[in-house]
Amino acid sequence: MKHLLTVSDLDQRELLQILDDATMYEKGQMIWKPSNSMFVSNLFFEASTRTRCSFEMAQHKLGLQIIPFEVMTSSVQKGETLYDTIETLAAIGVQSVVIRHPEDEYYKKLQHEVSIPIINAGDGCGQHPTQCLLDLMTIRQEFGSFNGLNVAIIGDLRHSRVAKSNAEMLTKLGANVYLSGPKEWQDHSNICGHYVEMDEAIEIADVVMLLRIQLERHNEAPHSLNNTYHEKYGLTIEREKRMKKGSIIMHPAPVNRGVEIADELVECNRSRIFKQMKNGVFVRMAVLARSLQSVERGMTHDNYHQ
Ligand code: CP
Repeated sequence: MKHLLTVSDLDQRELLQILDDATMYEKGQMIWKPSNSMFVSNLFFEASTRTRCSFEMAQHKLGLQIIPFEVMTSSVQKGETLYDTIETLAAIGVQSVVIRHPEDEYYKKLQHEVSIPIINAGDGCGQHPTQCLLDLMTIRQEFGSFNGLNVAIIGDLRHSRVAKSNAEMLTKLGANVYLSGPKEWQDHSNICGHYVEMDEAIEIADVVMLLRIQLERHNEAPHSLNNTYHEKYGLTIEREKRMKKGSIIMHPAPVNRGVEIADELVECNRSRIFKQMKNGVFVRMAVLARSLQSVERGMTHDNYHQ
């Protein structure tokens, strides 16, 4: 079946095909609808606005039936495991599940055991494959390709699943990935890229990608996020003036306005932050379609790479 768990599940051909499909959906060219009613469910064990709502929008646009699932009122509260939850939904007739979960690699064992495809909507500090795809779609719209592009990923690298997925894929696609942010949040073993000082990153980047400080994954209390962060590592109004001509600003959001990025820059001309969200719907349509096409064909266990 066609799980999508990490960006490593995608080879370059399949990744570019998803971006092409997403572009067709954006242009209103419907390339797949299920031949019969198909049922999906969204299991969010962590908070979400963009990912959850854009998956739901994508599901509606594809004509899929959504079986509502709320963790807080489900039998998860009685101790039901994730495996039993998925197989219960499968037994009822759900044909694919979208899962966000706080545990890194929650899917590791499950992927070989469950009977329906899983689309990973973010695992702890692990991976966020559909965010990566929508970011790549946004970058390709702007620059046409990835080869030789300088992409600076800045901020809370260690806790960011977006940074891990994007750095891996951008490097594979030939981009130069630069990393910057507080030393204590660097991650030399899990994120590929060259560490540079903040001001160098800003000046060489075609894409300045800022990351949210993931307070929920930090041990310190929220008040530790003080004004010095914005001055040291944030995209200030002064730093934006030193960005290259034609370069763009991205952020997976939600944004801590005035922390990672000056409030005034969130919707400035260079910003593609809301464009990223818009692209999320089309990318998720493409991913859902590929996953459910495999169900229609009655495929058995395999991941995206075959
Ligand atoms: N970018 C992102 O994953 O946002 P949400 O947490 O709101 O889904």
